[in-house]
Amino acid sequence: MPNRNNQILKNTNAKLLDEFNASIMFDKELYSQDIKGSIAHSKMLALQNIISNDEQKSIENGLLQVLKEIESGEFKFSLEYEDIHMAVENRLTQIIGEAGKRVHTARSRNDQVCTDFTLYVQEKTKSIQEQIKELISTFVELASKHTTTIMPGMTHLQHAQPINFGFHMMAYANMFKRDFERFCSSFERNNYSPLGSAAMAGTPHNIDRFKTAELLGFYAPTQNAMDSVSNRDFALELLFNISTTMMHISRISEELILWCSYEFRFIQMSDEYATTSSIMPQKKNPDVPELLRGKTGRVYGNLISLLTIMKSLPLAYNKDTQEDKDGVFDSVSTIEISLNILNEVIKTMVVNKDNMANACKIGHLTATDLADYLVAKQNMPFRTAYYITKELVQKANSLNKDISELNIAEIRSGAKELENIDEEIVSYLNLENSMNSRDSFGGTSTKQTLAQIEYFKEWLKA
Ligand code: ARG
Repeated sequence: MPNRNNQILKNTNAKLLDEFNASIMFDKELYSQDIKGSIAHSKMLALQNIISNDEQKSIENGLLQVLKEIESGEFKFSLEYEDIHMAVENRLTQIIGEAGKRVHTARSRNDQVCTDFTLYVQEKTKSIQEQIKELISTFVELASKHTTTIMPGMTHLQHAQPINFGFHMMAYANMFKRDFERFCSSFERNNYSPLGSAAMAGTPHNIDRFKTAELLGFYAPTQNAMDSVSNRDFALELLFNISTTMMHISRISEELILWCSYEFRFIQMSDEYATTSSIMPQKKNPDVPELLRGKTGRVYGNLISLLTIMKSLPLAYNKDTQEDKDGVFDSVSTIEISLNILNEVIKTMVVNKDNMANACKIGHLTATDLADYLVAKQNMPFRTAYYITKELVQKANSLNKDISELNIAEIRSGAKELENIDEEIVSYLNLENSMNSRDSFGGTSTKQTLAQIEYFKEWLKA
């Protein structure tokens, strides 16, 4: 009796252990990289006379057959083979027989998983970069239509100085350009092949790691086998780069959410990308940018999770690192859909120029212009000019007017020091003139905004 129960318990535990230990449920995503890596490895083994040319041909054809089976959905993934590496090798041997058992010569799953995962990260880095570039060109295109569309520029979410909407959009183009460049530099730093590091210390076989590196599109092999099998920096960099890009996505999302509220009404989102309420029939909700903002949190979680997994791991390989993949796959699919959706939202939204212009008439956006005028024309110390301007702002408030709407008489009666101010001050306090006066490099003037747009158009072409 007790024996039988033990047997059941054993079976249950074995199944539980398989489930716990395996990574096939998620690392099957790496099938194409795994097959590519094995083909390159077999070619190198043949070139080095470690396997015969016939064996290599047979391995390569067998692997291509496995690839076909996976892509057609015919392939049965099972917990029996712990991960994609064992699953592919096993099926290969089923198909081609003895030669299949030679493919794992001079490698280990430890270097194999790093190779596959690096290839995956590098491929995704390139495709995410393409998407970022598309988004940047959407911002540039939108900006070029709005270099004279005046709107309130804000600090502390309070009206600060007049800017044009194109300038605001170009601020985002700049952020996403930095993201693009960050992905570039990670690609460069991580484009080295771990293959042939074997379990942790290299191999006694006469392999040519430079050859496999070349066949797989890497610049060269990695330098140290021990580091190679325990390294996950390349995955962390991808997670960080995705997180930073999502942070930028969440910032524009937040602005879109504010801008389509009744308080702003600066934009209107296309019906396609807005949702309704199940109870309030009048509602048009910005669920899409809210989700983009929310998904940013999830992507940060994946970054912190891998950082925490890697923390304190002794050299070299440890099974802990099997936990690296799920979060990376999740962050990749999250950013892919997010960039896609954001691009469409920006392309299809309607910009309410009039509401932006009207909003500029609240909050004395051109107050700094008076202070700057007094400094430039009357050689007044800035702090003195600042307090005189403050007095005029109070005067404007008492008249229920914005500083940009005051006539010369009202300005002259605003402060003792303004009594004899030249009439030209009225034009300095004009919103559009104020915006265009900020003509320093990188400033908001239409001229500078157009120059930025030109620079970006050239950059996008390169
Ligand atoms: N399945 C593992 C992973 O995803 C790779 C295998 C290495 N396993 C091992 N016990 N050495 O990281």
